[in-house]
Amino acid sequence: MKKIIIAVDGFSSCGKSTMAKDLAREIGYAYIDSGAMYRAVTLYCMQNRFFEGDVINIAQLEASINKIQITFIPNAETNNSETYLNGVNVEREIRTMEVANKVSLVSAIPIVRHALVANQQAMGAQKGIVMDGRDIGTAVFPTAELKIFVTASAQVRAERRVAELVAKGDPVSFEAVLENVKSRDHMDTTRTESPLRKADDALELDNSNLTIAEQKAWLLAQYHRVISNLPS
Ligand code: DC
Repeated sequence: MKKIIIAVDGFSSCGKSTMAKDLAREIGYAYIDSGAMYRAVTLYCMQNRFFEGDVINIAQLEASINKIQITFIPNAETNNSETYLNGVNVEREIRTMEVANKVSLVSAIPIVRHALVANQQAMGAQKGIVMDGRDIGTAVFPTAELKIFVTASAQVRAERRVAELVAKGDPVSFEAVLENVKSRDHMDTTRTESPLRKADDALELDNSNLTIAEQKAWLLAQYHRVISNLPS
């Protein structure tokens, strides 16, 4: 069967990863969480003390960008792919609030975006991939056969993120998470380099009131529609 590229973009914490991952598993495609790549670069900057408060030393980051290697390796027990930074599993560390608070600063830096976008394009060269992020349908794969733009209210997204963090044993206050969600929305949509926006040909999905099962069914239907309309 012909393989396509599926781009899932949208605001932070709107359940993109869950739906993208589920779809990839269902149809036997690779799944790439591009946000994890920006988070891993952020963690590298924190570990190497490139930050002074909220200011990042761009010269230091530029000098190191080629030393940052990000890979995804499936966890044999859960079958979920996990993020490795220079060979070390950082899946847990990249999901902390510390990283979340700094990732929008790092992801606005052009040299970071250029390096990661090139990497992401190489991952999708053979198609058969579901990738989620902010600029997948606009900058990484502008010719993707299926593009989805997911939205949900900031309130709903903060509630989901709190539940996720609490389940991982990282208790956080709802207010702090809501503040982080709103400030990331602002930074992600207003940055100069590849701001978050819906591609003209993307399908919009507001999942504020949808269950995971409903989203999954909707997305699968979109995939089948596109596949059945492909020229043979
Ligand atoms: O999806 P996420 O919340 O894990 O993404 C973390 C951050 O990375 C988010 O604040 C914006 C940035 N990002 C980006 O700029 N471009 C992408 N393709 C994916 C994420």
